[in-house]
Amino acid sequence: MRFGDAPPTEVWTYNGTVPGPLIEANMGDRLVVDFQNDLPEATTIHWHGVRVPNSMDGVPLMDNAVPAGGSFRYEFTLKDSGLFWFHPHVRSAIQVQKGLYGVIRVRGLAEPSSDLEQVLVLDDIKLRADGSISEYLDDASAMIGRQGNTLLANGVVHPLLRLPAGGVTRLRVVNTANARYFTLGAAGLKFLVFGTDGSPYAKPFEAETVMLVPGERLDLFVKGPASGDVELMALPYERGHMTGNASPLAVATLRFSGKPSATELPAEPTDIEALPVPASPSFRIALSEQAEAGNIRFFVNERQWPDVAAWTPGAGVSVFEVVNESEMDHPFHLHGFFFQVLSRNDVAEASARRVWKDTINIPAKSSIKAVVRFDEPGRWMYHCHILEHAEGGMMGEVSIP
Ligand code: C2O
Ligand code: CU
Ligand code: CU
Repeated sequence: MRFGDAPPTEVWTYNGTVPGPLIEANMGDRLVVDFQNDLPEATTIHWHGVRVPNSMDGVPLMDNAVPAGGSFRYEFTLKDSGLFWFHPHVRSAIQVQKGLYGVIRVRGLAEPSSDLEQVLVLDDIKLRADGSISEYLDDASAMIGRQGNTLLANGVVHPLLRLPAGGVTRLRVVNTANARYFTLGAAGLKFLVFGTDGSPYAKPFEAETVMLVPGERLDLFVKGPASGDVELMALPYERGHMTGNASPLAVATLRFSGKPSATELPAEPTDIEALPVPASPSFRIALSEQAEAGNIRFFVNERQWPDVAAWTPGAGVSVFEVVNESEMDHPFHLHGFFFQVLSRNDVAEASARRVWKDTINIPAKSSIKAVVRFDEPGRWMYHCHILEHAEGGMMGEVSIP
């Protein structure tokens, strides 16, 4: 594979491309994926954000990793519409970086209209001068995660995307990077933030910049200028340890052309059901880090995975709290279920922002409370989606009877 001007890079792929194939489906469809592992090592496919039966979740908890040369049939019914993605859950910091990720788009009965729907898969990779992908984890990368030196949009360095001038584009964005936070902005463009991981927002809102943490998705609408080029930029963001000391980077050129259209920005979605909040005390998930003599470790409730005690809330609605005690932000991700944020730093979340999430930023020294309905038995992971942090111990388990 060639990334920009770099010498050829050896990658690992799903079906030969980076990103892997875009899987298109409708809500209610049964998805059957016959997976053959031709890698030299074990792997799994995890369906990030898709509500699957536990045995299909592609985590090696149940000793069901697919060995080198092995195969597995993933098969499940798609319960939700939205944009989801898939990636390995074995040595994920390496396997995802090498190119193993793809997107799955599930259409619902009523989708908002647009003149163009553009999927945007954001990644960054760390290339050496010879074009190879570095597996070496230096201390800085162990701390902040492997931040790449090459930004990719749909597997391409700085692509040109053609969008309808005066028309409405639906931009469906996913951040598949190991560690980079993407803060997107484009001079003169406003985003209508329509939805995120698991649903639209109760009230979509306008923003000039939007942020996606690793694993997170955004469903954006933009009305283009009459014509011309606009640079979509990744703006610096301080997520701790001086990560904000950076210059803006160009992600893609958006070229607006063609006749204006009569398409309108989407109206408000139908109500987002509010989960009832039970009176029972919330479960506390504390995230912390420790650096001692170049040995960087990450903890959930002061233990490192797989040493973290499982949370066993029982089926039904539960409240949990994620407390980030560390000096940097962590993107928290829960498998198998969507949750709704109740408060951030004990400030109640506005009902206009009610939405179903599976991945959310927890800024340094802050906390969130969220409510979730556990309605599928099994052992489900939660972890920081900075993959070096997850592999470094920041991972836990919810066990539902
Ligand atoms: Cu995107 Cu545990 O994963
Ligand atoms: Cu996931
Ligand atoms: Cu983290």
